[in-house]
Amino acid sequence: MSSVDAAPGNTARPPRVLFLNPAGQGGGAEAALGDLLAALRGARPDWPLRLLALEDGPLLEQARGLGVETEVFPLPPVLRGLGEGGASVAGSVRAGAAALGFAGKLRGQMLAWGPDLVHSNGMKTHALAAAALVGTRKPPLVWHLHDYLGPRRAMRPILRALTGRCAAILAVSADVAADAGRVLPVRNPVHAVHNAIDLKRFRPDGPALDLDGLAGLPFAPAGTRRVGLVATFAHWKGHETFLRAASALIHGGLPDTRFYVVGGPIYATAGSQRTTAELRAMAPAGVGFTGFVADAPGALRALDVVVHASTRPEPFGLVLVQAMACGRALVASAAGGARELVTPETDALVHAPGDTAGLARQIGRALADPALRARLGAAGRRTAVARFSRERLAAEVVRVYEGLWFPAR
Ligand code: GLC
Repeated sequence: MSSVDAAPGNTARPPRVLFLNPAGQGGGAEAALGDLLAALRGARPDWPLRLLALEDGPLLEQARGLGVETEVFPLPPVLRGLGEGGASVAGSVRAGAAALGFAGKLRGQMLAWGPDLVHSNGMKTHALAAAALVGTRKPPLVWHLHDYLGPRRAMRPILRALTGRCAAILAVSADVAADAGRVLPVRNPVHAVHNAIDLKRFRPDGPALDLDGLAGLPFAPAGTRRVGLVATFAHWKGHETFLRAASALIHGGLPDTRFYVVGGPIYATAGSQRTTAELRAMAPAGVGFTGFVADAPGALRALDVVVHASTRPEPFGLVLVQAMACGRALVASAAGGARELVTPETDALVHAPGDTAGLARQIGRALADPALRARLGAAGRRTAVARFSRERLAAEVVRVYEGLWFPAR
């Protein structure tokens, strides 16, 4: 075994990494964690990996399929529904006391496995793990940021107070890293590490889903072009911008084209997302609503134009990379981390967040020009392969871990 693979302290055993995640299913952060586990499993097959989640769900099943040990350590009910909703003072005190009690139990649970590093993947576990590890220097704790902290009024002061407990910070984009640098009293650099996807699953050739069937729309004749927004129903994902742009294009006279909203409401936290009924009420006649789709590559391959329309800066935007990997023509909202993933006019067409007319114009350009769509799709696949492979992700994350285990090197 090379010294690089030796466990910290130079014992013969390979290092053990414990992952913490608040949810057992869900959105982009969970998908990204699934890819990170697969990436590490591929690059370091002998490292014992374990995932502790605060609730059960398909993420744990996926992890077990990769040979990762899993465990559910459920959050007490008083802490479960907490989002950014703003609790009463009495409610906050109760929640704070419950969180401290829970952190004490979590500490015993984490240390019992003997991890050489704890990697937390969500805000709740960042705070709980940091509180749990107060007073211990080992194992080092890594926070993996998938979102901006700036707008998180409730979490910001908690993570600020606990930053000293965290040995390294990973951020999914340079923009998220810059935000963390502004918000947190970090002394060391925040490592910007872009996510990866499974380039074998997200590929141009392969079966496409029947979006019309899923949406309950009548059969569409051959030659119909399909445009879709693929996103969770979080209120900032730009459904309104997309539906307005679709409406403008339809009223402008657009033959042989159908628009789809692909995805559904998936979060338990109240008030953070749209409902299907709200979106249907905004949509022009004939727009298809597929609901949540597990086969994301199948849905992307069914679309001629994939739309990303977030109205706020997107921390990363997995769907952008997934669409490029599937060789789709992509129209993206160019702000935040998303801006780092695409090259405008080469592998994507871009519009400014919330700019309905700009979005309609770019969709219109892509629809009118099959050669442009083919060129964007081919360039997108090349970008995905060159920049978003699991191998690249594993190498970057292992480098950060090793910097903590072997600081002198
Ligand atoms: C969060 C972010 C999203 C990112 C995902 C994976 O869901 O909001 O932008 O793609 O995490 O990192």
